[in-house]
Amino acid sequence: MHVSRFALLAAVLPFTLGEPKQPPFSNSTEVPLHFGVVLFPHFQALDVYGPLDILNFLHMIYSNQTKGATLQVFSKTMDPVSTAMMASGFGESTVPMMAFDDYLASRNMTADGDQSGSDTESCDCSDGHVDHTVKKRAMRFGTRHEGDDGMPSMSTTTAPGKIDVLIFPGGGGTRKDMTAEIAFVKAVYPDVQYIISVCTGASILARAGILDNRNATTNKKAWEFVLSTGPKVKWVPTARWVTDGNIWTTSGIAAGQDGTFAFVSHVYGDDVAQYLADSLEYNRMTDQHFDPFGKIWDVPGAT
Ligand SMILES: *[C@@H]1O[C@H](CO)[C@@H](O)[C@H](O)[C@H]1NC(C)=O
Ligand SMILES: *[C@@H]1O[C@H](CO)[C@@H](O)[C@H](O)[C@H]1NC(C)=O
Ligand SMILES: *[C@@H]1O[C@H](CO)[C@@H](O)[C@H](O)[C@H]1NC(C)=O
Repeated sequence: MHVSRFALLAAVLPFTLGEPKQPPFSNSTEVPLHFGVVLFPHFQALDVYGPLDILNFLHMIYSNQTKGATLQVFSKTMDPVSTAMMASGFGESTVPMMAFDDYLASRNMTADGDQSGSDTESCDCSDGHVDHTVKKRAMRFGTRHEGDDGMPSMSTTTAPGKIDVLIFPGGGGTRKDMTAEIAFVKAVYPDVQYIISVCTGASILARAGILDNRNATTNKKAWEFVLSTGPKVKWVPTARWVTDGNIWTTSGIAAGQDGTFAFVSHVYGDDVAQYLADSLEYNRMTDQHFDPFGKIWDVPGAT
């Protein structure tokens, strides 16, 4: 059968015309550029890679409007961080890009311009926010890359500057010793533009004191544990995510993606968030009050 050129065109046109166009940022003048994520042993993979994949995609397709955007992967040390509960357990590792101390030391030196002095200094800031002791190790800090032998090696790079958006995941590790992670969040929080926690990551923000007197939510299956870490927090029992000021807390694991889309909607525009969701073939939950999981996990006050 002979198919005319016109018939072919007619068959194709409705699809090409109907294809969604990449929408512009509704606020393109001041988008956050510097993102950070915190890793600790036994973190929940989806808490990290769910939000990050949305942000990866955003920065890929809007690369011309997000020039200079960076992502730092922070951890206590530069050792690969596993999702597994124990060393030999089932899971996978992610390689951090910067250790907490190195970031804080380089930031402090950038702030006070003092590159000499003792090896150790303690900051007794009058506002009581930062009470960590940092090692003035060096101006440089490590960034990992693969060496010729395929093994990670260290190289130096420019100072990391401030973090605009910090993502804090949850996971079984939040029930272990989180002293270093809590101190890190406490130290960086005063300078961040936004902080997003996923799942039990809220327990670290709570222990850092930054959720006091604020609305927040967390994983409904871990409700009792997280509440015990933040008696002064106004925990919301029925919420997919909660925003209070510049803090976004999301419910359990997968909710981190809906919270991140909501964050993208807030900062870059809802058209942008929906375009990303359609591209990733993700069914967004856009109602932050829709949450069947509180009742499923018997959370007091859940509706
Ligand atoms: C753009 O974003 C910045 C930073 O979040 C904010 O201060 C400003 O009000 C926004 N402008 C518009 C037009 O939304
Ligand atoms: C970025 O690229 C898109 C698509 O090529 C274009 O429509 C848009 O005008 C560009 N924006 C800037 C700020 O260059
Ligand atoms: C916190 O939640 C309460 C009760 O739902 C609400 O009235 C209040 O506006 C919320 N505060 C903020 C800052 O969102």
